[in-house]
Amino acid sequence: MKALVLTSTDGTLEFTSAEEPAAGPGMAVIALQAAAVNRRDFWITQGGYPNIQAPCILGSDGVGIVETVSEGGDPSWLGKEVVIYPSLDWGESQEAQGEDFRILGMPDHGTFAEKISVPLQQLAEKPAHLTIHEAAALPLAALTAYRALFLQGQLQPHESILITGIGGGVATIALKMAHASGARVVVSSSSDEKLARAISLGASAGVNYTGENWAERFLSEHGRLDLILDGAAGRDFGALLPLIRPGGRVVSYGGTAGPSVTFPIRYHFWNQLQLIGSTMGSPSDFADMISFVEKHELRPEIDSVTPLEEGVDLISSMARSPQFGKLVLQIS
Ligand SMILES: NC(=O)c1ccc[n+]([C@@H]2O[C@H](COP(=O)([O-])OP(=O)(O)OC[C@H]3O[C@@H](n4cnc5c(N)ncnc54)[C@H](OP(=O)(O)O)[C@@H]3O)[C@@H](O)[C@H]2O)c1
Repeated sequence: MKALVLTSTDGTLEFTSAEEPAAGPGMAVIALQAAAVNRRDFWITQGGYPNIQAPCILGSDGVGIVETVSEGGDPSWLGKEVVIYPSLDWGESQEAQGEDFRILGMPDHGTFAEKISVPLQQLAEKPAHLTIHEAAALPLAALTAYRALFLQGQLQPHESILITGIGGGVATIALKMAHASGARVVVSSSSDEKLARAISLGASAGVNYTGENWAERFLSEHGRLDLILDGAAGRDFGALLPLIRPGGRVVSYGGTAGPSVTFPIRYHFWNQLQLIGSTMGSPSDFADMISFVEKHELRPEIDSVTPLEEGVDLISSMARSPQFGKLVLQIS
């Protein structure tokens, strides 16, 4: 079969031939129809990810049709359209993942391929209201957004939230989820065009974080918030803390703008803020996320759909962040 394979630990990614997977015990083989790209795939090609191994097929998000189920597995999955839960071996605790936790697509072979073999417990039926491309864009970003907003962030319907870097895949679905929950959503972006799109999707206001003194202007225009959801970190992280009300929270799930932050500690202790981390989600978070998406008929924002064979160029284009929403790969 054809796949996007990391062929060297120096980050070389190639569209090449790979061995077809078989359904080992407790596994299913899925004929993939579409996959979606995450920032993680880009970091891996830049050597900026822990424990990189090669060769490995990348990709954490996928949708497809169940082709084979191992002996003794539930045959009712055969022929179903499924999305794949991308957290492997989360563990027993709802509080955090265990030692064996891995994300699909490194070191286990991922979804940028014509076929994949995954444990049967990773399968969920594709939400009926989603297209194949929307379903491919859902799992990792929506799982991360759901846990960060509602489990770690405890967002309440009467509250206000700032979602930073709204062009990101997690941020765009987080906007839709927070809006659907009844919260007031404000967003930030480097692009006025992306801010306008976010407002058309339910944000009540937006601020361009590249502008001079943007945080001060934000405060005078919008007042303090209950919660901030941030996947950027970097130099501007410290500017976020004064925007939170005393007793408020910031949930951090990524570091696109750089792993080191300035942290004005006085806002943290004086305003009794909670700084909370969030990563992916547990099996019950995934099931709850799917139910939430179905109940509110939410659709992930798709930036573009690109054939799998052009995936190497697509992933390298993530050095810039021109996208609004998810980059999807068409497979079959
Ligand atoms: N913890 C987890 O489980 C988990 C899961 C998924 C992703 N992540 C991490 O979360 C981050 C976002 O991932 P993603 O796939 O959703 O995003 P993405 O699609 O890669 O988009 C990144 C976005 O970051 C924004 N950005 C860049 N610099 C910024 C800054 N200084 N301030 C605010 N925003 C900034 C940009 O927003 P604008 O274009 O609007 O300016 C850009 O569109 C990545 O670091 C990723 O590795 C973590």
